[in-house]
Parts: sequence; structure tokens; C-alpha cells
Amino acid sequence: MTQQYAISHWPDTQEIMDQLNRLVGQPMRPLSRDRMERVLAYFTERCRKSKALTDEAKKYIPGGVQHNLAFNHPFPLAVDRAGGAYLWDVDGNRYIDFLQAGGPTLLGSNYGPVQEKVMALIRECGAATGLFHEYELKLAKLINRHMPAVEMFRMLGSGTEAVMAAIRAARNFTGKQKIIKMGGGYHGWSDQMVFGMRIPGTGAFEAHGIPAGCLEGTQEVFPNDIEGLRTIMAQNEKNLGGTAAVIVEPLGPESATRPVTADFNQHVRELCDEFGVLLIFDEVVTGFRVGLGGAQGYFSIRPDLTVFGKCVAGGYPAAGGLGGRRDIMNTLAAGIGSDKPRVMVGGTLAANPLSCAAGYHAIIEIEKHQAHVVAGRAGDRLCKGLQQIIAKYDLPFVAFNHGSICHLETSGVMLMDINNPKIFEEIGPRKHMMEEMGAAFMAEGVVTLAGSRLYTSMADTDAVIDDALEGFDRVLSGVEG
Ligand SMILES: Cc1ncc(COP(=O)(O)O)c(C=O)c1O
Repeated sequence: MTQQYAISHWPDTQEIMDQLNRLVGQPMRPLSRDRMERVLAYFTERCRKSKALTDEAKKYIPGGVQHNLAFNHPFPLAVDRAGGAYLWDVDGNRYIDFLQAGGPTLLGSNYGPVQEKVMALIRECGAATGLFHEYELKLAKLINRHMPAVEMFRMLGSGTEAVMAAIRAARNFTGKQKIIKMGGGYHGWSDQMVFGMRIPGTGAFEAHGIPAGCLEGTQEVFPNDIEGLRTIMAQNEKNLGGTAAVIVEPLGPESATRPVTADFNQHVRELCDEFGVLLIFDEVVTGFRVGLGGAQGYFSIRPDLTVFGKCVAGGYPAAGGLGGRRDIMNTLAAGIGSDKPRVMVGGTLAANPLSCAAGYHAIIEIEKHQAHVVAGRAGDRLCKGLQQIIAKYDLPFVAFNHGSICHLETSGVMLMDINNPKIFEEIGPRKHMMEEMGAAFMAEGVVTLAGSRLYTSMADTDAVIDDALEGFDRVLSGVEG
């Protein structure tokens, strides 16, 4: 059967970037103070238990919550029930869930058929034994069937770990030094990747607590700047120890917050071939969400290494893994008996039977229901509806999507330009505006990722999307004139 993908059409990258640049170039358009008061009243009056819990948590947990994506204005919500398209907080309020646990629950939250298989596995052998389980093989074979470039697969504990492994393997295999990433891209929080985060050109700006030496081998290039990439590769080849790998989020940095052009990855592949550099696709978000063949299938590109996370464990914990060419992957061989020089990776609970079973059955279910396509159509409907609301109220905001990965930029904080002399004045207020928007969407019963990103799932029927759009409409009608 030919693969189907979530992306029904590739949005016009230049047009989106022009709109985003216009948004960032003009004064902010936040919600009216009146409207914001009503939003805050929702939290005070309807979310009392969440407030009490997260207030107490501040005494024991830094910031009051354990997860970066949970830092919501005015305080985090405590959620105790999830199912399909919905989340419920401890006060009993229901929300449409476009956070999707940060991306992995493509089938919808707490999806029954996968949950049953996980429970059966736990009853039989518990979550982990430290020894081999057949599900490891089943998952690796299934990924290989859908992504032929992933000839071998090593399951790890998170996307961050998988990126660490990819970089180490690339340096060891090529004998070269530099790793080039796209500015603004997110590849987890390991020392070498806290570089050029969120805003391209920011280099080590966020690398607090990381020795400068750790970042000497990391470089960034602006998204879509193929000539810039060539220049860096040529310089590296001349006198900087060469380039071991280029790592990309294939739709663009931060899950296409800055989208790349349709032919960008192909150009990167060609440059990598020209300079003898490995190409790493970070498919932590796109792996299975864009399609069972991943972004590499969508673009028909064979990366040398592929990083997995999120969906690879079906929304269950310990979601990470590295796959790719047999000759490179064999350098990651595990086991006490291996005597060859190998690249060190590990993890006590990596590749535990629970994660492998959950990932295996989730991918089977995704295939059976073509969940990525269903979620992609929901993303199209959501995005089109958002664009209509933006036009109706004549707002400068920007909505775009690649299938089930949708963006709604209202403050544009993630799109700021490092060359803007006012960048440091503007970041704070724009970030706050994004938080206010996120709070306002919540008060209308819609959970987003940080107020600007929305993942759809197979559970998002037309009725769910239309319901959410009514909420967005009510919020955006309250933007200051
Ligand atoms: C593209 C990308 N790479 C890597 C990671 C890191 O994965 P993890 O959070 O599992 O460490 C993320 C997490 O959001 C991601 O979006």
C-alpha cells in the first residue's frame, strides 16, 4: 500500500514568513484589559483546586510543576483525567486538548486498545526486566518496514538522549568534529544542543551552566540559508576539523515555527553528500505524526541517522531512539560481551518492554486507522477556521499548519529577529502576551502548547474542531483595537 501523509499541501513558506515578519514588525495586539480580567476571573473562580495544589507544589517543586510545557499563566492547571480529545482538571472543567502531551498522543489521549496491551504486558512481566524482550524486535522491524532508511534501531529513554547518541555516533563514524544545527531548532537539552535555541543567531545565549568548551563543536545556520550552510561546511573542511553531521527538524525549527521551503531538505542532503557529512533527521515530532514513513518518507529523502521520540512509545514514558544506516548503527552495539570499540550509550530503563510494546501497538493502530491522515485533516480544518477568524476581526495574527502540527502566532515572540535592536526590550512583553492568549484559550476550554502551537489527533472530529473554533472566535473578538 502506498504511504499516505498528513500534509495535504505544502504551505507557501515565503508567504508565511512575510506574514510573520509583518506581525513582528508592528506593535502588539493583546486582549483588552477588560477581557483579560474576565479570563483571570475564570481561573480564580473555577480552578480553585488547581491553584491550591500548584501553590503547595511551589514549596517542593521548582516553579510548582515538573514539565516545561505546563508553565501556564496565571497558574498551572492540575489535570487528573484524559481521554480522546479531552482533558479534565481537578476542578472538573473539561478542555479540548491541543497540547497532546507535547505531541505523542496522535491516536488521542489514553487510547484504549494501546492501554489494554500495555496493561497485559505489565501483568505478565512488569515494566522492565533489564533483559531482551521480543517487543524490542517487533518495534525495530515495524519502524524499518515504514522507514527503510532506519536499517537498525536502538531504543533510548528520550529524544534528548537520542540526539546525544546521534551526535556521538556521527563524530565517531566520520572522524570529523563539527555539528551544524538550524538556528531556532530544538533538539532537546543536552549540553551541546543548548545553542541557537528558539531565535536563530542566539548561539550560547541560553547555555547557563554549560562550559563553553561543550559548545565549541556546535554551529548554527539560519533556516533556509543553503548558501550559508555551504560556506560553513567549506570553512569546517578547510581548518576546523570538518563537519560530522547536520541535524535538522525536517519541517523547520521548533516544529516549523519557522517553516522551511519544500526543497530545503533535499538541498541539505545534496550538500551533505558533497562534503561527506552525515544527515540527521530529528523526527521526534514528525515521526509518525507526518506519516508512518516520517518526514523522510514525505520528502523522499534518506537521512543517515534518524532521531525518534514522542510517538515512538505511543505516548508512554521512555520515548526515544536512534535509527539509521547499519554501518553507523552497529557502532552502538549493546551487551556486556561486545569487544569492538563502540560509541557509549546506555540507560537502565531504555528499551523497556513497556515502552516498546506501547510504541509497537500505537504504530499498528496508527496504520490501521491512518491516524496521521485523520489528525492531519483535523489540523487543516482547525487552521482554515483560525485563518477565517483572523480575517473576520482583521487581525495581524498568523495561522498555518503542516497536517496535525498547527501554529497560531499572535505575539510573534518566537519569530523575533536577532538583528532587531529592540529585541531584548520586546521579548518580555511579547512572551507575556503569548501567555495571556494561552490563558484566554484555556478559559474558553481549549488547551494549547504555550498559547501558540496546536497538535491535533485522531480523536479530533469535525464537531470537536468546530467547538474549539467557537472558543477561539470568542477570544479573538476581545483583542484590543
Ligand atoms: C524536535 C525535537 N527534538 C528533540 C526533542 C527532545 O525530546 P525529549 O523531550 O524526549 O527529550 C524534542 C522535544 O520536544 C523535539 O521537539
